[in-house]
Amino acid sequence: MANGKEFVCTECGATFYRWSGRCPNCERWDTLQERAGRRAPGAPRVAPAEPPARLADIDLGEMQRVSAGMAELDRVLGGGLLLGSSVLLGGAPGIGKSTLLLQAAGKMATRDVSCLYVSCEESLGQVKMRADRIGLEASELAVSAETSLEGALALLETARPRVAVVDSIQRIAAEGIESPPGSLRQVLAGATALTDVCKRQGCALLMVGHVTKKGAIAGPRSLEHLVDTVLYLESEKFQSLRVLRAEKNRFGTINEIGVFQMSPEGLREVTNPSALFLAERNAEASGSIVAATMEGTRALLVEIQALVGPGSYGTPERKVSGVDYRRFSMMLSVLERRAELKLAGCDAFVNVAGGIRVFEPAADLPLVMALASSFLDSPFPEKTVAVGEVGLGGEVRSVGQVEKRLKEAAKLGFVNAIIPPGNAGAAASSFPGRIRPVADIRAAIQLLGR
Ligand code: TYD
Ligand code: MG
Repeated sequence: MANGKEFVCTECGATFYRWSGRCPNCERWDTLQERAGRRAPGAPRVAPAEPPARLADIDLGEMQRVSAGMAELDRVLGGGLLLGSSVLLGGAPGIGKSTLLLQAAGKMATRDVSCLYVSCEESLGQVKMRADRIGLEASELAVSAETSLEGALALLETARPRVAVVDSIQRIAAEGIESPPGSLRQVLAGATALTDVCKRQGCALLMVGHVTKKGAIAGPRSLEHLVDTVLYLESEKFQSLRVLRAEKNRFGTINEIGVFQMSPEGLREVTNPSALFLAERNAEASGSIVAATMEGTRALLVEIQALVGPGSYGTPERKVSGVDYRRFSMMLSVLERRAELKLAGCDAFVNVAGGIRVFEPAADLPLVMALASSFLDSPFPEKTVAVGEVGLGGEVRSVGQVEKRLKEAAKLGFVNAIIPPGNAGAAASSFPGRIRPVADIRAAIQLLGR
């Protein structure tokens, strides 16, 4: 910063101290512009805007949570919507973002939480049609089709809602800025002004954000830094299931998921996802096992499927969906070395049914078992559930929250549980069926076909 000059990319927001024709970050041409008037580092400001407050004197009056009207959404938010906080909801077009937020806003409005739904993409008539179609009874919900930022801010100032929805942040534009809606400058200006006003008024702000082809929320990363919570609504192609997860949450964990099903009446909450994920399972097929996993505080049973076959020429093909690829590679090596299964030249595929992602080490054992079962073409006994971490020596290590996992399995009618020996005590008190502790993966594989 020798001469104090800075160049900002108008597309991705990255800053550089040297001009170049192409942005080194997003690789777009002719987007770097000089930003003037930066203070030299260390130069003092005139005076602080406000003196600092004593921690004990800070008033939490406005910082309270309200239920978003849907338990699955509340859980992902960290126990409801925090007034004064800002939430960005991302997801592919047509996935159900507008439906979800309209339903939540409607539910809140009927419970006397004043709500303002700013629909920048759809007309008032379209919003009404959608509300009618999903049978939303929310006569008190305030709806506006405002697309100017100044207009939306004025609405917030006069209506003073407790919750505001802006659908979407890419469609709102400030009149004073010449760039088109959706451009970096517009999105940043809109999001900054809206979050500031809402924070000041103690209003919760929910903004919809479109995603790029790569799946990130369109616009700069700084948009994600600006808000308190970033949520994504996702689905597997051609499936009605929708999974809501938090990518960032300043006021809760990011481990919780919310599960919904898209129906003619809008998004329906799925309160027992395990049953749904296992509904279409063929229990007699080899290469399939049910894993007792945890998603945040909730136990979730999911089917892990593997397909292992002789490879053709060259490098064997390996693909996974729903599990960590590095973990998968490691488990293949462990099987090869510790259980002497000749997998090196084989093609191998793994899939978690229902479009769920299972990234916890407790899914190692089920993963290993699914691969072995497919390779040996031998199924596990019916109604068997498995859980356990696998080490490089092939040993099966204990996992947390075994009681919760096995209680869920018992509830769904499972009668065999394959678990780490270290968890046997906890398992006995929570699972009425047959418990099979396995010290290593060889012991687990011996249970095949029995
Ligand atoms: P929408 O909420 O408009 O998606 P987004 O805002 O993320 O772009 O959802 C649109 C899709 O959902 C559309 O393809 C139709 C489907 N849908 C239903 O299946 N049932 C419904 O009750 C509604 C409202 C939408
Ligand atoms: Mg929409």
